[in-house]
Amino acid sequence: MPSLSWEEFLNKARSFPSSGIPVADLVRLVRQVQITPDLIEPHIAWSSDHYTRTPLLQLPALEALVLCWEDGQETVIHDHGPSCAVARVISGTTLIENFRQADAGGRPGYARLELIETCDLHPGSVCASDVGAIHSMGNRQGERRRMITLNFYSPPLSRIRTFDRETGKIGEKLYPELLETI
Ligand SMILES: [Fe+2]
Repeated sequence: MPSLSWEEFLNKARSFPSSGIPVADLVRLVRQVQITPDLIEPHIAWSSDHYTRTPLLQLPALEALVLCWEDGQETVIHDHGPSCAVARVISGTTLIENFRQADAGGRPGYARLELIETCDLHPGSVCASDVGAIHSMGNRQGERRRMITLNFYSPPLSRIRTFDRETGKIGEKLYPELLETI
């Protein structure tokens, strides 16, 4: 059961240097923190064009955003650059696909990706991507069901790589442009 209040969570997050919170520590904190509806509700926004990302928290070592996903909306395949990412499902079922780079990087600008894991996460569940991990995230529930996730990044996002699902072509995106794709 969650045992940390939001204030206690913030105090712990502030105790880490701006270089970032190790992913194992961040997973533990995100699992422990109580997320109440009044924390999330002011940050809920919906768009038929793209899932929305609304900032909830910005600290030197950590940022948090509320993501609202209409049915069928999903990220491109991406990493998180020098950041790690931890997401907690607030409502709905989140589909995560985890990939690994299956080549030695011999073709500049391209990567051959291999899908290594697919998982459905339910409300209260937490998933993590350590620095360098490659994944996608989306709402494929069908029946027009919406989904809300609370996503944490440490240190705050600065640059990412995207991977074309068909060709493996690698893209580089910097903040804030990256917010459109991740
Ligand atoms: Fe991600």
